[in-house]
Amino acid sequence: MQLFIDSADVAELHAAAASGLIDGVTTNPSLIAKSGRKMKEAIAEICSIIPGPVSAEAVATDVEGMLSEGRYLARIASNVVVKLPLTENGLRACRTLADEGIRVNVTLCFSAVQAMLAAKAGAYFISPFIGRLDDIKVDGVGLIREIRKVYDNYNFRTQVLAASIRTPEHVRDCALAGADCATLPPKIFAALYKHPLTDSGIEAFLKDWKSTGQSIL
Ligand code: E4P
Repeated sequence: MQLFIDSADVAELHAAAASGLIDGVTTNPSLIAKSGRKMKEAIAEICSIIPGPVSAEAVATDVEGMLSEGRYLARIASNVVVKLPLTENGLRACRTLADEGIRVNVTLCFSAVQAMLAAKAGAYFISPFIGRLDDIKVDGVGLIREIRKVYDNYNFRTQVLAASIRTPEHVRDCALAGADCATLPPKIFAALYKHPLTDSGIEAFLKDWKSTGQSIL
C-alpha cells in the first residue's frame, strides 16, 4: 500500500520523508490556508521534498477555470497531480486533462457510482473520504470495498486513494479492503509504528541484556 501524507506543512513533510516510507503527498485548499504559504511556492517545495505524486487542488468550479488552473498547477513540477472535485464540471475537466497527459486526483468522492464516473473520466486517483462518511454514520471503509469491487469488475486502472483517514485502524481496514494508497495526517502516520507490546518487549529485552554484562561491539 502506498502511504501519502495529507499536509502542506513542509516541516511535517520533511519529518515524515525521513522515514523512507512515504510515497506521495496530498494537499487541499484548507491545508494550504493552514500553512500560511503562497500555494505555488508551497507546492514547489513539497514536490522537491517528496519525489512521488503531490496533489494540488484547483479551486475554480467551471470547466474552463479548472482547465486553466490545472494546467498551471501541473507546470509547477513534474510530480504534481491536479486535484479536482467530483462534480460534473470536475469530471469534464478531468477527461480533458487526462487526455493531455496530466494526472488527476478526483476528490470529495462519497459513493461507488461517483467513483465509477471518475474512472470513466480518466482519473489517475479517486479519493473517497472515509472519515467524513463515518462522521455521518455511513461506513467509510465499506465504500472502499465497494469501489475496489467495481474497479476490479471492469478493470478500471484508477487508483483508490483512501482519504479523510482518522485512525490507524482506518489504515488497516483500507489495506484489507484493497485500497491502493491511503493519505494520512502526520500524527496518524507516526501512530502506525506504535504497539504497547513492542515498547514493553524492548524494555524487557534490554533489562535481561543488561544483566548479562555483555556488549555486542
Ligand atoms: C485528501 O486528499 C484530503 O485532503 C483529506 O484526506 C481530507 O481529510 P479530512 O476529512 O480530515 O479533512
